[in-house]
Amino acid sequence: METMKAIAKRKSSRVFKAQQITETELTTILQAANAAPVGMGQFESVKLTVIQNKALLEKIDEAVAALFAKTGTHPTYGAPTVILVSGAELKGPMSGVPYCNAAVIIENMAVAAADLGLGSCYLMGIIAAISIDMALCAELKVPQGFVPCSAIALGYATEELTEKELTTGKLAMERIN
Ligand SMILES: Cc1cc2nc3c(=O)[nH]c(=O)nc-3n(C[C@H](O)[C@H](O)[C@H](O)COP(=O)(O)O)c2cc1C
Repeated sequence: METMKAIAKRKSSRVFKAQQITETELTTILQAANAAPVGMGQFESVKLTVIQNKALLEKIDEAVAALFAKTGTHPTYGAPTVILVSGAELKGPMSGVPYCNAAVIIENMAVAAADLGLGSCYLMGIIAAISIDMALCAELKVPQGFVPCSAIALGYATEELTEKELTTGKLAMERIN
């Protein structure tokens, strides 16, 4: 089944070529994002920011480096495209919903990327630095009342994507019949 093939090919890529992904590839990835489930069907509670501006990506890297007092790190891995997923902030017991929305949207994009032969990497490490920097949030078009939740790095990976062996044994499981 093609879907299982793409799932088996998806892995975190952390070294990217400088070459930008094509508009057609970006459209397919955005279609995958838009096909993801969203809590209570509230699609208006989610905002995507496609970042392809090198200076802005470097600014994100610098904000993360400053927060964690680590120079020379590139937490966006030089990917030419990063897509940030923000969500309307919820307080109380449902506060996790925007992060769950972001996770399923990002996984849909990651599997679509693998299907296209593109590398991807889930980026959550950058979120802490973005969320405390209001000027950066504004530059990233995070709407008022929204929180940056997660992001994905996308591009042509230097390392080829190969199909990993699928297993049922990686995650701990109890079966109750
Ligand atoms: C919620 C979440 C947050 C993650 N954040 C980061 C991150 O900030 N930087 C990074 O390099 N990888 C990040 N990852 C990728 C994981 O490290 C990676 O998926 C895991 O090691 C398994 O490897 P694989 O993706 O190649 O299968 C994240 C993954 C998830 C699901």
